[in-house]
Amino acid sequence: MGRVSGRACLVTGAAQGIGRAIAEALLEEGADVCFADINGEKAAHVAAENAERASTGGGKVMSAKVDVTQRNEVRDMIARAADAFGRIDVKFNNAGVNRPMNFLDVTEENWRFIMDVNGLGVLIGMQEAARQMIAQGGGGKIVNTASIASRQGFDNVAPYCASKWAVVSLTQSGARDLARHDITVTGFAPGVVATEMWEEVDRDLMAIGASERPGQAMEEFSSEILKGRVATPADITGTTTFLASRDSDYMTGQIVMIDGGMTLV
Ligand SMILES: NC(=O)c1ccc[n+]([C@@H]2O[C@H](COP(=O)([O-])OP(=O)(O)OC[C@H]3O[C@@H](n4cnc5c(N)ncnc54)[C@H](O)[C@@H]3O)[C@@H](O)[C@H]2O)c1
Repeated sequence: MGRVSGRACLVTGAAQGIGRAIAEALLEEGADVCFADINGEKAAHVAAENAERASTGGGKVMSAKVDVTQRNEVRDMIARAADAFGRIDVKFNNAGVNRPMNFLDVTEENWRFIMDVNGLGVLIGMQEAARQMIAQGGGGKIVNTASIASRQGFDNVAPYCASKWAVVSLTQSGARDLARHDITVTGFAPGVVATEMWEEVDRDLMAIGASERPGQAMEEFSSEILKGRVATPADITGTTTFLASRDSDYMTGQIVMIDGGMTLV
């Protein structure tokens, strides 16, 4: 029996990277899982690839195309998942974006793009998941993806850091507001995880002259990790499955750092 057997979970940003790993780990431990992403085709493909994992774990798998900044799409995705699974027990607000720019060059467009997905997208995701959980009764769990950038401001990624600090405050505010409905809100903060996001960040940092060769930015940025290496998505999922499970029922309003000891806060 897995830690999340029979629990209905929804993960955004699940077409790749950390979100995909979170969703697959949940399936492995018996959950029903909806892989949701703005790239609906890729999410559907990944969900189909996971049919066997689902049948071994004993859960159901589905996918949804969603832009987390669009409330109507989020609502529709939650309704469809609740319909397929009978309810929603756990909602992961994981979709996120970054687009590095030097501090003085940050534009309103850059700020709004990042804050929209990482900030507003998390707010809408929390609200709509909570509405479903309140309507169905019995509480629930909301888990947000924060970052080391939620704890320190880093150069060349100011809007990203601001958006990830917002995730911390939304987690705290949501925890306070939703406790009366027995809904917990937690978050986890990865450090440097080898995903496509970092490949893009690496390219963007070269494009703005902040690094000279592929891989340099990641090497320099992560040189102080006490564990001596960057993370893989698999390093994150022990904690995320715990946050989705009943083992974390007495936790709310907290962010768990999973950064190999990069930021000691
Ligand atoms: N990779 C890291 O080092 C790292 C570190 C700390 C936090 N994070 C956070 O973890 C989360 C996942 O990051 P990742 O590294 O797996 O990134 P990734 O770029 O590999 O995957 C992100 C996924 O989110 C989806 N997405 C983007 N905008 C969306 C939108 N508007 N609606 C729905 N889906 C959308 C993308 O299509 C993609 O599949 C993000 O919130 C990121 O900020 C990543």
